[in-house]
Amino acid sequence: MLSNLKAQPADKILALMAKFKEDPRPTKIDLGVGVYKNAEGVTPVMRAVKEAERRLVEEQTSKSYVALAGDPAFANAMTDLILGKSVARDRIAAVATPGGTGAVRQAFELVKLANPEARVFVSNPTWPNHVSILKYVGIETVAYRYFDTESRAVDFEGMLADLSEAKEGDVVLLHGCCHNPTGANLNLTQWQSVVDLINEKGLIAMIDIAYQGFGDGLEEDAAATRLVVSSVKECLLAGSCSKNFGVYRERTGILMAISETADGTPLTQGTLNFLNRQNYSFPPDHGARVVTTILTDPELRADWAAELEETRLGMLKLRQQLADELQRLSGSDRFGFIAEHRGMFSQIGTTPELVEKMREDNAIYMVGDSRMNIAGLNENSVPILAKAIIDAGV
Ligand code: LMR
Repeated sequence: MLSNLKAQPADKILALMAKFKEDPRPTKIDLGVGVYKNAEGVTPVMRAVKEAERRLVEEQTSKSYVALAGDPAFANAMTDLILGKSVARDRIAAVATPGGTGAVRQAFELVKLANPEARVFVSNPTWPNHVSILKYVGIETVAYRYFDTESRAVDFEGMLADLSEAKEGDVVLLHGCCHNPTGANLNLTQWQSVVDLINEKGLIAMIDIAYQGFGDGLEEDAAATRLVVSSVKECLLAGSCSKNFGVYRERTGILMAISETADGTPLTQGTLNFLNRQNYSFPPDHGARVVTTILTDPELRADWAAELEETRLGMLKLRQQLADELQRLSGSDRFGFIAEHRGMFSQIGTTPELVEKMREDNAIYMVGDSRMNIAGLNENSVPILAKAIIDAGV
């Protein structure tokens, strides 16, 4: 049986991680996978996470099962963090999932159950695993224009034109903030136009929000998501705690499905519970409990938010330093977009050949689509990267 298997395509982000590990050059720079690293190249356990874990070790008396949907306190805390008061609680069905990817997968399975005909519109480009999971689940994917490779900003006209081709019931997948991989984001006026189009055409909004707090701030990064959920009839939302709580390996995420009225919530909730049961039964609890402990304790929450803010400001500083250095070396403003982009990533908009050249000549590891993880840089590596970009002829 097993000999019948066909080799599956490697995930390009994870393949790059492996290549980086193997590279013996001491000067190598890892701008690949979306993991935050401090100036020393370390992905730290956040202070509030350490404290919450210490409390859990001391106070937890059982490791018995919690519930198929996970702890309701986690869902409440996450609803509060992402949605604030933008939508009535009784319209929200929610389940804890193994990371944001688990939420994305469950959301697509929910779409498939609710409307097998639905197509999912994804930005071009999007996180490669969106497309891969959609294919695996058997849902037709349609790409909409998103990134203008000339200006390295959003091609908003193209985006609207392509979305207007969607049919009633199709799903539009949107990145709530900090677009992955490009770093280019809509402003709130543009978001409003997207919402209007969704409502006009009877489309279903799905938001993937994995980097809240990495762009313009915790509240600011939630603004677009809140605008969408408060204006559309139904909405799906996949949230991740991996990055903003730094709990990557704990697999901590949430799927929310917002029904048109509270009457629809029990059916939606029951279906989400069913999907959890089919796929992995009870969702992981440890990371969710750590996050809940932090979000419900004012002191821990304040400390967490402060550390996240330091991280965000550090990345903005690196963006500015890189844009300035490239301006100095190139004598032009054509790299100014790096300081305008938000989140962990920027796509510099060059060819896979030049990305490969930078890897071979300078041990710089960015994803083949020219996405770089800004958090993989530090003050000392910025000039090295800038020089490599110019030397490669980007
Ligand atoms: C990324 O885009 O690098 C992250 O979301 C990590 C992953 O799982 O791909």
